[in-house]
Amino acid sequence: MPLFPQGVPLSKRLFDLTLAVLALAAGVAGAAPVQDGGVSLIYYGHAVFALEKGDTTLIFDPYLSGNPWKVAAAEEIDTDYILVSHAHQDHLGDTVAIAKRTGAMVVTTAELARMLKEQGVAVHPMGIGGKRAFDFGYVRVTPALHGSGIPGGEACGFVVSFFGVKVYFAGDTGLFGDMALLGQLEKIDYALLPIGDNYTMGAEDAVLAVGMLKPKMVIPMHYNTNPLIKQSPEEFKQAVEKKLGIPVMVMQPGETRLISPVLSQ
Ligand code: NI
Ligand code: MN
Repeated sequence: MPLFPQGVPLSKRLFDLTLAVLALAAGVAGAAPVQDGGVSLIYYGHAVFALEKGDTTLIFDPYLSGNPWKVAAAEEIDTDYILVSHAHQDHLGDTVAIAKRTGAMVVTTAELARMLKEQGVAVHPMGIGGKRAFDFGYVRVTPALHGSGIPGGEACGFVVSFFGVKVYFAGDTGLFGDMALLGQLEKIDYALLPIGDNYTMGAEDAVLAVGMLKPKMVIPMHYNTNPLIKQSPEEFKQAVEKKLGIPVMVMQPGETRLISPVLSQ
């Protein structure tokens, strides 16, 4: 297997190379080499991300119709799984239409799953703290400090182990101290964190979140979609990298990156 597949941006190659050198320099007994997970991460703007490997696709919070970034139409999405963090429109988005057209299974909290099932959607209900194996790996449902958008429901986030790449999608949330516990429970490769402020934690709090989660890499989300959540992802990047030495990857809406388990545990 080639170390770097075709089409990987130079910055990504340099990043992986840097980590490979660091791993070698650390000389940790039993440390495996950096692996290519062969997983694509696609950003659709706001808090919409998809993971893809081969024939398997998973999308988080598919808000496409009405998403001002307009990088894809809901009709273009072909997916096997839809993970929904809560029922606010900028997260539930086009879930029902996409699930009905594709037959995708929606993984979400119990109350929202029940509502979606009543609309004829295939669902897998879960609860905060629960973990479940799927054919791509597993999903752990994490707490989120945020409204659910549905009576009696709760907002959540997800840790997804997707063909060996561990991604934490925080959903909409304020900062909470148990992110430190999550960092102990899961060796997170990529943390997708809101930085927009107003509705969720802002950039300063997100820096503290990174310090607790200790991921290998951070990707900011939920900013610059409207004036209330205007933020500079570059300032956030500089703050995290300077204070914590953890790299931040700022993705542009419509961009796809190859991701991998950046350092084996
Ligand atoms: Ni929300
Ligand atoms: Mn939101």
